[in-house]
Amino acid sequence: MNHGEKSVKKKYFLFITLSLTLLTSSAIAAENSLYQRLGEKRGIAAVVDSFVNLAASDTKVNFTRDGKFKGMDVPYLKGQLTDFISMVTGGPVKYVGKDMKTAHAGMKIKSTEFDALANDLALTLDKFKVPAKEKKELLTLVASTKNTIVEQAISSGPRPLYDRLGGRGNLEVIVDAFVPLAAKDSRVNFFRNGRFKTMDVQLFKVHLVDFLAMATGGPKAYRGANMKAVHSGMGITGAEFDALAEDFSITFDRFKIPLKLKDEFMAIAASTKADVVEVSP
Ligand code: HEM
Ligand code: HEM
Repeated sequence: MNHGEKSVKKKYFLFITLSLTLLTSSAIAAENSLYQRLGEKRGIAAVVDSFVNLAASDTKVNFTRDGKFKGMDVPYLKGQLTDFISMVTGGPVKYVGKDMKTAHAGMKIKSTEFDALANDLALTLDKFKVPAKEKKELLTLVASTKNTIVEQAISSGPRPLYDRLGGRGNLEVIVDAFVPLAAKDSRVNFFRNGRFKTMDVQLFKVHLVDFLAMATGGPKAYRGANMKAVHSGMGITGAEFDALAEDFSITFDRFKIPLKLKDEFMAIAASTKADVVEVSP
């Protein structure tokens, strides 16, 4: 590499560093991962242990679904939940289990039950004196699974993120700008060393819009395979996933999308990490 190239690379790196520092979203800020700030696997396991005990005895949650799961292996569930939370908070932990939709399918979990569970988690985090910032980040991540876990229609409540982002038209604009950015980002290695060189990018964009519409609470248009099946065998690393998430974040900033909406979206994107990533970190 000659000196000219080096200085261009350096400038580019500086630009990335600067933009990262300017962005306040915790998902991409240059700070320790939420996983680390929660005390890594040991800290998370301690919270999960206490949280599951609380939720299991909370009639508003009805955790065992009227006794249907009375005989479940609670220590195993605690381990699974610890792995899942470790993974989605950015830890080098691989969650091996069902995706959240499959794991809870048929349980007919209501919105109010989900909220009661989230409240139990909030109480547990308070008990462990987890700072407000980390508490909010974790609760946002957990809230992002609500769409896939709750099976009963939410009669009232906030408008879906899909609507607040401006519906399908705006998702198309976002995806149109995001895909080329991610595709040329060497940190993402989107085409997996050329293996997907010939993929139909236009069709991919349509499917990504369908998926994001569904994930943000819009019309359930996505008919493709789940994220685990779609990305299986690609060997996607945690770092590649994070780089891709950063490209989403950059795209949202480019369109000056309000931070609150961006944070909600980033939490939803982060919730796919367990399914997409095959290699830690
Ligand atoms: C009211 C809400 C919820 C209820 C009633 C509920 C109930 C359950 C039950 C009964 C199981 C055991 C299923 C089995 O043994 O086959 C389970 C599994 C699981 N749940 Fe939940 N859950 C809720 C919300 C959540 C949330 C918000 C998360 C994540 C943030 C979560 C993560 C998990 C995980 C990781 C598993 C293990 C799946 C596996 O090992 O394949 N659950 N849940
Ligand atoms: C570093 C991370 C990722 C890489 C390298 C990656 C790469 C790819 C590739 C190469 C395909 C095409 C597969 C094929 O044609 O058979 C694909 C499909 C897909 N990806 Fe990803 N992906 C990543 C993360 C994500 C995330 C985070 C999401 C959602 C938020 C996502 C959503 C999709 C969807 C919906 C499809 C299916 C498109 C279709 O059915 O044609 N991907 N991904």
